[in-house]
Amino acid sequence: MDIHVVAIIGAGTMGTGIGQVVAQAGPRVHLIEADEAAIGRSRQRLEKSLQGGIERGKLSPQEAQRVRERLTWETSYDAVAECDLVIEAVFEDRDVKRAVWAGVDRRAPEAALLASNTSTLPIAELAGYSGRPERFLGLHFFNPPPAMKLVEVIPHAGTLPDVRDAAVAFCQRLGKTPLLAPDIPGFIVNRALGALVAAALEVWDQGGKPEAIDEALELGLGHKMGPLRTCDLVGLDIILTMLDLLVEQTGDPRFRATERLRQLVAEGKLGVKTGEGIYHYGE
Ligand SMILES: NC(=O)c1ccc[n+]([C@@H]2O[C@H](COP(=O)([O-])OP(=O)(O)OC[C@H]3O[C@@H](n4cnc5c(N)ncnc54)[C@H](O)[C@@H]3O)[C@@H](O)[C@H]2O)c1
Repeated sequence: MDIHVVAIIGAGTMGTGIGQVVAQAGPRVHLIEADEAAIGRSRQRLEKSLQGGIERGKLSPQEAQRVRERLTWETSYDAVAECDLVIEAVFEDRDVKRAVWAGVDRRAPEAALLASNTSTLPIAELAGYSGRPERFLGLHFFNPPPAMKLVEVIPHAGTLPDVRDAAVAFCQRLGKTPLLAPDIPGFIVNRALGALVAAALEVWDQGGKPEAIDEALELGLGHKMGPLRTCDLVGLDIILTMLDLLVEQTGDPRFRATERLRQLVAEGKLGVKTGEGIYHYGE
């Protein structure tokens, strides 16, 4: 299954980053957004990422130019009709995703691969919205997509083996490391991160100092960054949502968020992005 043209629906943080990664590997990319204002934000996000890549020596100015030439932005879904792969990266809201997949189903070629970048919604459920569940799977990129090597590839029970294999091959072509994950709440990374983070927050509640908890897990488990610093970096609001969804979908109290985490989020102390979270970050 050759992939020459890719549509990405939703060009926010993830969609724009995935678009850059795909265009760097060669295919043409249609970034499809809700309105012109969102397209403007996506253009700025891409430019910032390309400039950062050039400054860090990750890509040459010529490569950056080729990425710009391979990407187009539009608000119409018409371009989906010429795409070999459609990746949906809109808001994490099942109603929004359902409406998007209905629009894709009316236009996508029969042979197209269909993928969602969802972090938390069941792939089998989204596959049902697509009208073509056998050609559907999860492709879970990590933030920021140009820098993060991992893509979780999540077939559901009805995904065709050829579709799964083509998606794995495509991720390899992108220079990523695709790993198969089961269609369970949190897949692999968020499932394990949820358990670790909830445990670290509990130790903090019971008297452990954040610095000691992080350093203990860095030295004791060989992690590059302790779980509490990771929470601050990801955003405490996003961590809280992840934990709540894991409890909702598994019923397992081990993922329960602490009151202290809820309090920080209620106070707008969301971590690095607001200058304060579990740690203080000055200006
Ligand atoms: N941010 C992360 O760290 C991260 C990591 C992995 C996966 N994800 C998942 O990726 C998806 C996108 O997350 P994000 O962080 O990029 O969100 P975001 O809010 O930055 O971007 C979502 C984009 O979708 C657009 N959109 C909404 N409805 C649309 C429609 N009907 N048609 C076209 N575009 C539409 C919005 O305008 C917005 O630009 C979510 O499912 C999220 O769970 C996020």
